[in-house]
Amino acid sequence: MSEMRTQRESRTGKSHLAMTRMATALAGVLAGSLLAAPARAEPTVEVLHYWTSGGESKAAGALRQDFEASGGKWIDAPVAGGGGDAASTVLRSRVLAGDPPNAVQLKGPNIKDWAAQGKLATLDEVAKAENWDAILPPQIRDVVTDKGHYYAVPVNIHRVNWLWVNPQAMKKAGVEIPKTWDEFNAAAEKLKAAGIVPLAHGGQPWQEGALFEDVVLGLGGADFYRKALVELDQTALTSDTMVKVFDQMRKLRGFVDDGFPGREWNIAAGMLMNGQAAMQIMGDWEKGELTAAGKLPGKDFVCAHVPGKSGYIVNSDSFVMFKSDDADRAAGQKLLAKLILGKKFQETFNVLKGSIPARQDMARDSFDECAVKSMDDLKGAIADNSAVPSMAHEMAVPGAVRGAFLDVVTSHFNSGMSSKDAVQRLAEAVDLAK
Ligand code: BGC
Repeated sequence: MSEMRTQRESRTGKSHLAMTRMATALAGVLAGSLLAAPARAEPTVEVLHYWTSGGESKAAGALRQDFEASGGKWIDAPVAGGGGDAASTVLRSRVLAGDPPNAVQLKGPNIKDWAAQGKLATLDEVAKAENWDAILPPQIRDVVTDKGHYYAVPVNIHRVNWLWVNPQAMKKAGVEIPKTWDEFNAAAEKLKAAGIVPLAHGGQPWQEGALFEDVVLGLGGADFYRKALVELDQTALTSDTMVKVFDQMRKLRGFVDDGFPGREWNIAAGMLMNGQAAMQIMGDWEKGELTAAGKLPGKDFVCAHVPGKSGYIVNSDSFVMFKSDDADRAAGQKLLAKLILGKKFQETFNVLKGSIPARQDMARDSFDECAVKSMDDLKGAIADNSAVPSMAHEMAVPGAVRGAFLDVVTSHFNSGMSSKDAVQRLAEAVDLAK
């Protein structure tokens, strides 16, 4: 009996053991087949950008939301610092380390440079499917393509030559919005006498470079601008007009407050908002900053054309995609590129950013009066050939040449250098750098 039980128990035990083995084997097969099944792709992007101010991060947040709502995973890699010089340094070191972020805010000739080095993925497939050839203006298409291939997706068009005005501060000093540089200088003296800082300014090379190019356009006009800052023509660079540009820069130096060195542009925007300063010369990301703080165009601030001759200094943000072997990352890049030029995103983002859409077939209803003016002025400037690329915002010349301009402009602004010396140094530095 006891022997029988032992045998039975041993049989049961054996069959139990066998069943357990079978179950384990089955589970193994199942797990194996699950593993072998194609994994669901998670489109992923690590996004290197420099949109960190109040208005900028609202706009960048809209892109992130759109991407995540479409099933993507967004890894944020922001680098603070207006104008993006700090972000370029980070980009170069990440590329050198063999670990570039797969989506990078980059623009102008830098796009063709990185494409020539074979680092960028082409966006031709998305461009074809989304008909980018038809929806982008030729000026922007030229910037984001190289040898017939798309290497960047444009986000927007920013105008650089805007004058932002606090109407209450102007009223206090009894001055009008200036239309010429002489009027500007006269108004600035009155503002100063009334205890108001005439020009809100941040002393960083890109901000001084932007002031400089605005003065070049205002005093010289679009043809002169193109000759000096795009074609790097020595006669234009050493001309009397260029001496006058530096004379005006010296005047502007006298219209900023003592705290300007190193100040970020958005801190300067704060001075305009609270009435400590009356005017600021800045691209229309300024409007994104002002509206993010609840300020209204036409009431709390006015957008006007920078004094002098008219024209449109073009700056356009775009993203490039560094090549990646990872399937999720490649999928993420395509998804991001598609969303960026989608109508919905073009509207949401550009309303928040202060820019106008890169695509040309958008309704205007959601855009404010400054954006509508920008759209009309751009059209007019393209028609009369007065749309010029921004040197300070990396749209016009290679990095080394831009560096030469900014070095001289900023040394002049921050010292007692004469206009004649500045012109001489500028011509030499640009010649060496090109
Ligand atoms: C960029 C803008 C940015 C601004 C300040 C410009 O170069 O094009 O998108 O808001 O710099 O950071």
